[in-house]
Amino acid sequence: MSSLAECIRPELNAIKTAGTWKNERVIASPQRTRIVLANGIEALNFCANNYLGFSDNKEIISAAKIALDKYGAGLSSVRFICGTQEIHVELEKKIAQFHDREDAILYASCFDANAGLFETLLTPEDTVLSDELNHASIIDGIRLCKAKKHRYRHRDMTDLENKLRESPSSRLRLIATDGVFSMDGTVAPLPKIFELAKKYNALTFVDDCHATGFFGKAGRGTEDYFNQIGSIDIINSTLGKALGGAAGGYTTGTKELVNLLRQRSRPYLFSNSLPPPVVASASKVMDLITESTEFLEKLKSNTNLFRNDMTAAGFAISGDNHPICPVMIGDAKLATEFADKMIEKGIYVIGFSYPVVPKDKARIRVQISAAHSQNDIEHATNAFVEIGKELGVIGS
Ligand SMILES: Cc1ncc(COP(=O)(O)O)c(C=O)c1O
Repeated sequence: MSSLAECIRPELNAIKTAGTWKNERVIASPQRTRIVLANGIEALNFCANNYLGFSDNKEIISAAKIALDKYGAGLSSVRFICGTQEIHVELEKKIAQFHDREDAILYASCFDANAGLFETLLTPEDTVLSDELNHASIIDGIRLCKAKKHRYRHRDMTDLENKLRESPSSRLRLIATDGVFSMDGTVAPLPKIFELAKKYNALTFVDDCHATGFFGKAGRGTEDYFNQIGSIDIINSTLGKALGGAAGGYTTGTKELVNLLRQRSRPYLFSNSLPPPVVASASKVMDLITESTEFLEKLKSNTNLFRNDMTAAGFAISGDNHPICPVMIGDAKLATEFADKMIEKGIYVIGFSYPVVPKDKARIRVQISAAHSQNDIEHATNAFVEIGKELGVIGS
């Protein structure tokens, strides 16, 4: 019999040979725009999902500390045994209200929310139609369910319609898409998806992890961006990005859907409750973003500043005016070299290459935060221009 190490080693070597080994840089400070790495290097962070700058917001930290004292460190229980406190119920209400939905249910993560939804809802008589570039957690969630599965080409509405036509006898048909695709900063064509859903009597599911709290006029996410609040049937999202960045996810929709998930969804039933400090910090975030659009307005102006300056300098920035700003480089090695040089200049960004993105479409994915100052953005743009000229990515 082979040892465990013997079985694993070839795969580890293959990852290294393919050049896709992921090294983790250790951060010695809180998550924020100015971070300190464990090796002492200080950097301006341009690769966190800290869209609203809440990861080290003082009011949010203080709410978490108060909850730690009042409600303890954790529940040592799942929700239905003895793991539900008043703050869990209150947060679910705030989330539902924020999205203008009947109810919401919390999970330990959005990965769990996606893992729990499809298996609970869909039977072999149903059909699910999923964008081919959906997040891994949607793909895995769909794998767990017994519905008939179709993958439509990325944002290709003709292909989606063809697949809808092929499944006329289903009990339920569910179209599943990311609201915003995180590698490209592109937005799902929701108006067309709603039109097709109506025509073919299908339901819609949107994972709005990269939109909730900051995208759209009032930060209500992708449906808000298209002025169609209330149109999505089922929304899943995360508390681990714009909404404080701690942890947690949720599903929001009708009362019946949420009731069913509470009774049947396996990651909800068989996993621990969210810890009180995490719940309280998310709850504080919901208050902040409900009361004011100050943070999202700042994020919008920062995003415009970065996109405009970079485009004027000759860079190709992909995406639909979203704070995910992929700076397209093309060659994988060049993207890595570029990102390394940026870090040397104190700008923390990461290069993405195949297989995470298509071959020859390597990029540096910049993520803008409301917490960046105008100076921070200009500092990053200047570094991009300097290195871009040096490496021949833009003309000198
Ligand atoms: C589109 C999308 N869905 C789901 C997730 C998972 O979210 P969480 O970190 O809450 O599990 C992520 C996180 O990377 C994501 O980008």
